Amino acid sequence: MTSRTPVLSFKGVNTHYGAVHILKDVDIDIYAGEMVSLLGGNASGKTTTLKTILGYVKPTSGQVLLDGEDVSDWPTAERVGRGVTMVPENRRLFKRMTVKENLEIGAYLRPGEDLSSDYDRVFELFPRVKERLAQKAGTLSGGEQQMVAMGRALMARPKVLLMDEPSMGLAPVLVAQNFEIIERINKAGTTVFVVEQNANMALSIADRGYVLQTGKIVLDDTAEGLLANPQMRQAYLGEV
Ligand SMILES: Nc1ncnc2c1ncn2[C@@H]1O[C@H](COP(=O)(O)OP(=O)(O)OP(=O)(O)O)[C@@H](O)[C@H]1O
Ligand SMILES: [Mg+2]
Repeated sequence: MTSRTPVLSFKGVNTHYGAVHILKDVDIDIYAGEMVSLLGGNASGKTTTLKTILGYVKPTSGQVLLDGEDVSDWPTAERVGRGVTMVPENRRLFKRMTVKENLEIGAYLRPGEDLSSDYDRVFELFPRVKERLAQKAGTLSGGEQQMVAMGRALMARPKVLLMDEPSMGLAPVLVAQNFEIIERINKAGTTVFVVEQNANMALSIADRGYVLQTGKIVLDDTAEGLLANPQMRQAYLGEV
């Protein structure tokens, strides 16, 4: 067997907000091409994990590695430059800017470049976005905002796409559509790390998953393994 270097790793990561200990000795390894889910209840530290990957939160101990390189002290922009992009919780579009301007911002690290193939890719995945280019992002429906947020992230041509609760606030039919698109993005070669409370949906398309409970990884298995795990079924998959 050949040993591979993960595209993204946490090694014994601890984080604090002030005196409050959030992530506790978190170890994560994600390999190129994988689709991995991070599951857990409210306030378990899921968003903090994504923010720590991008450097919005700095570990108090432990390391964040990209392609085997310790980036724990790197500023966010340099990590984005390495191909890591996030679709944040609640989309966070620039509401008074147009859809087109929001997409353009996604490609801010490539100023002056021809972006037509990037736009084409976004329009192919989200035909609705093309129809709404001149509309102010703040006036889009929730589902449309999620499409633009994903489109904006794709404009950065990410190697690793981080998604924070893409199904939040969406009707079930849109959730299913969204996950189908995430699967297509992953199959086209982008590594995906997706935070979800909707464990059933996330595990239906993921290769593997981690489960966080009050900042600790309590389970770490293949998607099939997690779906069959009694502890998991009781706590996160809606069985009592
Ligand atoms: N900037 C901050 N300052 C202080 N505490 C914070 C800060 N951000 C998050 N926290 C706390 O850290 C804990 C973990 O928050 P986090 O946002 O990572 O949880 P989460 O798993 O994403 O939850 P949710 O599912 O509700 O989005 C929570 O108790 C939260 O209140
Ligand atoms: Mg969160």
